[in-house]
Amino acid sequence: MHKNLSEILLTREQIEKRIKEIASEITRDYEEKDIFLIGILKGCFVFLSDLVKNIKLDTNIDFMMVSSYEGRQSSGIVRILLDLRQSIEGKDVILVEDIVDTGLTINYLLKTLKTRKPKSIEVCTLLNKPSCRKVNVTLKYVGFDIPNKFVVGYGLDYNEYYRNLPYIGVLKDEVI
Ligand code: IMP
Repeated sequence: MHKNLSEILLTREQIEKRIKEIASEITRDYEEKDIFLIGILKGCFVFLSDLVKNIKLDTNIDFMMVSSYEGRQSSGIVRILLDLRQSIEGKDVILVEDIVDTGLTINYLLKTLKTRKPKSIEVCTLLNKPSCRKVNVTLKYVGFDIPNKFVVGYGLDYNEYYRNLPYIGVLKDEVI
């Protein structure tokens, strides 16, 4: 375990098993359809790469980058730093997030993307912190519900570090 962590919340094996289950659900739910996955950078990149390898559908992948965080706290203001390069009109879209915390980011993205007239739009997130929600959002695919702790690893960062850890861990208070 990394020295700056107080505990490992989810092991690599637990995460990989759950991602395979979610990929099977998506494959079943969208049978015979093309899907359009939108990865929300940067946090999604490890999760998305494991997820897509296990989805057995024709899959289009694009990315958006948004910023709403500086350090640990959500500012509540979402800015699009990188937008899609393709149209999503008439497409079955799934937004792929690393974590939904207050819900402000995903709520803003859903509202914005719905104006572009996708056929359907759903959310798939590796982690969910239900106790932190400030707005109500519907999450169709959730890897794990976790407690209100600041976690890193598997794509999630603290000031851009720890994304490469192959597990989800809790940062020690003194590091934050
Ligand atoms: P929300 O808008 O509060 O739902 O925040 C979503 C974004 O905040 C995620 O995409 C993450 O980038 C970041 N975030 C929220 N909680 C954590 C955490 O525990 N660790 C790392 N990043 C987090």
